[in-house]
Amino acid sequence: MTAAPAPAKKVNPNAPTLETVLEVEHFTDRLFGFSITRPPAFRFRSGEFVMIGLPGENEGDRPIMRAYSIASPSWDEKLEFYSIKVPDGPLTSRLQKIKPGDKILLSKKSVGTLVLDALTPGKRLYMFSTGTGIAPFASVMRDPETYDRYEKVILTHTCRQEAELSYGLRLTKSLREDPLVGEMVEGKLAHICSLTREEYPLKGRITTLIQSGKLFEELGVPELNPETDRVMICGSMDMINDTKALVESYGLVEGSNSKPADFVVEKSFVG
Ligand code: A2P
Repeated sequence: MTAAPAPAKKVNPNAPTLETVLEVEHFTDRLFGFSITRPPAFRFRSGEFVMIGLPGENEGDRPIMRAYSIASPSWDEKLEFYSIKVPDGPLTSRLQKIKPGDKILLSKKSVGTLVLDALTPGKRLYMFSTGTGIAPFASVMRDPETYDRYEKVILTHTCRQEAELSYGLRLTKSLREDPLVGEMVEGKLAHICSLTREEYPLKGRITTLIQSGKLFEELGVPELNPETDRVMICGSMDMINDTKALVESYGLVEGSNSKPADFVVEKSFVG
C-alpha cells in the first residue's frame, strides 16, 4: 500500500515578500532612513504606505508588521523609508539595528490617501508635515506628475530640533540640483521649515504659522482658499486634528480616493 501524498502546502498569494536592505542612514538618535529592494511586480502611487516588518524573534513567533509611508517616488527602483526610533517600540527597537544585506518583510499591497488622485485640480499644493510625517511627501515631491498638476508645490516641515530637519533639507537640495527634475522644480517648489523647541529663523507650530498668517507672508501668497489650494497633512494624531480643523475653517473639504476633494490627511507611523 502506498502512503497518501502529503497535502500540498498552501501558498498564501498575499504573504509578504522578503526584501534585502540596501542602505541605512542614521540622521539623529531618534531618526533614521533605509532603502530596500523593490520586487518588480510591486506597484504603488507616490504618497502611499505599505506594511513592512521583521520576522518574529523566536521560531513560531508572528512577524511584527507596521504601516510605513514609502518615501521614494513611484518611478524609483528601490523603496525608501524614513523612521523614528522608539527605544521600546515593538518594531523600531529592532528595525533601527538593521544593516545592508539584512532581510525585511514587505506586504504586497500599498494603500493611502496622500495621493494626487484624491485631490481635485488646483493651483497650489500644500504638504503640511511634522517629524516623520515628511516621508510620504518625500515621495510626492519627487514625482514629476506633481509639478504637471500644480503651479506651486509647498512643503512645510515642523520639528522640535534643527537636526530633525536635515533629511528634508537634503532631499529638496538634491532635487534642485538634479539635472532631470531640477528645472521642473525650479521656482515651483517651496520648502518651509520651522522649529518649536530651538531657536530658528522661523519658529512655531504649523497651526500657529497658518493662524498668524506668517506662512502666507513667507510664501507671498494669499491665505488658504478652496478655489485655488489643495492640502495634504501628515503628522501625529493631534497635529492632524488641529491642522485639519484649521484647513476646514477656510472652507476646504476633505477628500478620499473614492471622492476627491480639497484636502487629505494621514497619520505618520509611530512605534
Ligand atoms: P511642539 O514642540 O510644540 O510639541 P512630535 O515629535 O511630538 O510629533 O512633534 C513634531 C512637531 O509637531 C513638533 O514641532 C511639535 O511641536 C509639533 N506638534 C505637536 N503637536 C501639534 C499639534 N497639535 N499641532 C501642530 N503641531 C504640533
